[in-house]
This record gives sequence, structure tokens and C-alpha cells, in this order.
Amino acid sequence: MGLDPRLTDIVALRERARRRIPRAIFDYVDGGSYTESTLSENRVALDRLRLKQRVMRDVSNRDLSTTILGQNVPAPMMMAPTGLTGLVHPNGEVEALKVAHRQGLPFIHSTSAICSADDLAEGAGVPYWFQVYIMKDRDFTRYLLDMAKRSGATTLVITVDLVVNALRHRDAVNGLSVPLRLTGRSVLDGMTKPGWALRMLRAKRVGFGNYAGYLPKGTGTQSMAKWVATQFEPLLTPEAIGWIRDAWDGPIVIKGIMTPEDARLAVDYGAQGIVVSNHGGRQLDGGQATIDALPAIAAEVGGQVQVYADSGIRTGADIFRFLARGADACLIGRAALYGMGAAGPAGLEHALTLLRNELDVAMALTGCRSLSDISPDLLIQD
Ligand SMILES: Cc1cc2nc3c(=O)[nH]c(=O)nc-3n(C[C@H](O)[C@H](O)[C@H](O)COP(=O)(O)O)c2cc1C
Repeated sequence: MGLDPRLTDIVALRERARRRIPRAIFDYVDGGSYTESTLSENRVALDRLRLKQRVMRDVSNRDLSTTILGQNVPAPMMMAPTGLTGLVHPNGEVEALKVAHRQGLPFIHSTSAICSADDLAEGAGVPYWFQVYIMKDRDFTRYLLDMAKRSGATTLVITVDLVVNALRHRDAVNGLSVPLRLTGRSVLDGMTKPGWALRMLRAKRVGFGNYAGYLPKGTGTQSMAKWVATQFEPLLTPEAIGWIRDAWDGPIVIKGIMTPEDARLAVDYGAQGIVVSNHGGRQLDGGQATIDALPAIAAEVGGQVQVYADSGIRTGADIFRFLARGADACLIGRAALYGMGAAGPAGLEHALTLLRNELDVAMALTGCRSLSDISPDLLIQD
């Protein structure tokens, strides 16, 4: 059975995902921290930027391809690291890696994933990028890096904007826990989505895959999650970053940069790429939109290292806005998860294709034939 033809944009995929997966999981994907003001600011700032219509030029052949850390990609996109993807759809991370690989796009595996890095090697067996948090327990961090290396990770993405966990009210109210705890509320929630519950019976895992092998056998998943929550290193000194840089033999990307000063620091630390990101509004509440932070950062380090960006992208025109403001490529977070939640791997594939097609149309109507034609003067801010 093909996809519902009414799923014509990310908004429709989001709505379908809302109806198809339990509320606690949808809210985990959809929500932001505290008042969700950074979450909404990401969107408001993107909407404020108008694209300039340009006509009477030859836009018959458009080329969306570029290179991301030396890899040729058909579009300036990659999949953002997102925790718990394997609860949105069974074996979600393995399925997502397969889709990204088919589309020729890099996939970044989250430390807080459900499938482990080893599961990726077993289920997909293709190269990918691994996202890590620096943990207080360096043996634990090294354990994660070793698993990443042996399972085919080529590039390490170090996320630096989660030195403490910000609260997401929706998760607290829903009592979200991993694995999902059976309470009256969660059972009711699951019962309203029997299709999801049935599908999840096929899941290889329902707990944190990357953590499972480190703690002594028999450690309950709840206590594992509690322990990990205390592990995020708040002391991100030069020594800490230097330690992880030396522990990883391969390219490094630093994710969670919002100022030119921090971008410069990341370059000095030896990063080959940075991700301008506010974690999709899930960490610092009351923060600036990523799209507004980007120009000064691109001016500071663009050309020296690759500059990637994310947060708030729901259309291909949004990707256009990020590229016009200096990004080399974008990470796709919730838009991909809405696709997965709406229709599994086929929905994810559809979400990525929609974004790509929308970017292509935005380029044609602004008179661009290649990504290098996308410049800041094609944006109007009112
Ligand atoms: C459900 C969810 C889980 C996430 N988990 C992680 C994670 O484990 N590591 C990380 O670096 N970023 C994580 N992020 C942030 C994303 O990588 C990305 O920065 C963000 O989703 C971009 O915003 P957008 O979803 O509005 O596009 C997560 C985001 C979401 C929505």
C-alpha cells in the first residue's frame, strides 16, 4: 500500500504522526524546554525571512549537490541525531540509517538512541556519524567511542549544549520514561494507538541501546537512565575537549554553537565542522533563533571549517534560508521524525524527498541553478 497522497508536507506528516504514535512519544519529539520560547522563536525567525523572487533566467538544470566533509551528497542535508527514534518506530535508528544511506545523506546516530551502534552495523552495515556527549565517567565515553568505531562511524559529532538537562514540561507531565513505564496513564495512551503497540512487538530493543552493555548485567533500565542523567560533563574545559579529540581517530564536528566566539573556540579545538544549533529549542529557553545566530558565525569561521545548522526546519525553503545565511548544509531533526511517526521508513523517506523537492523549487523561483547561487541578498527581512 502506497503513502496517503494527502501527506503533501511536513505539517501533514506531523499531524499524522500525532494520531499514530502515543502522546508521550509525540510530545517528546514535538516539545521544547520550559516555556518553549526558543522552540517557537526558531520558527518565527524563519518565517520573518522572505525569499526574493527572481525571473527571466535559465533555471532549467538545477543542481542541489554538494560535499559534506568530502562526501558527495545529492542535497545539503543530513539526519540530525535524535534520541529514542526507536520508540517512534521499531528499530527506528537502523531503519533511518538505511533510508539516509539510500538517499546518499549522512546519518548521525544519537548517544541516547534505542538501537545501539552495534545494532546499526548488524542491521544496516553502512558508514554513519556518531554523536556523543562527553560523560564524567571517561571510561564510559571511551566505551561509546570504541563501539562507534567498530560499528562503522566515520565522524564524531560532539554535542556541547547539554551540560545539564533542561526540563521539558510535556515529558514531565506525561511521565515519559525509558523504557515506557506501565502506569494507568501510559497503558491508556498505548491502548489508543494499538497499531503502534503491535508494531513495537517487533522491536529488538525498547531501552537505551548504547548504554546497555556498559553497566553491570542486571542493571534495570530505569536505574541506567538515572545514572546516565548524572553523567553529562558540565566541566567542558580545554582538557575535556582535548581528551576526546585525542581519543577519536577521525574528523570531529562540534554541535551546539550559537556565537562567533564559541565557533572560534571550536575551530581552535580542531573541529572540522560545527553545527549552529540550539538543540531545536530543547535546552536553553529564551534563547535566540538559530537562523539569527548564523550570519555572524558564518562570517567568523565559514570557509575555514564547514558550517552546518539546524533548528526549526520544516520546509525546503527553510533550508534555502539557512544556506543563504551561510550554512553549508542542514541537519533535519523533527521533520524526519514526523515522517517516521506518520508512516515508518517510507514516511521518513517521503519527508526527506519533500524537503529536497521544496528546496529545488525555491531555487528555481529565486533564479538559482546551484547551491553557490544562493546568497544573502536573496532574502528580505521585514
Ligand atoms: C526528539 C529529539 C531528540 C533529540 N536528541 C538529540 C540527541 O540525542 N543528541 C543531540 O545532539 N541532539 C538531539 N536533538 C537535537 C537535534 O539533533 C537537532 O539539533 C534538532 O532536532 C533541530 O531542531 P528541529 O527538530 O526543529 O529541526 C534531539 C531533537 C529531538 C527533536
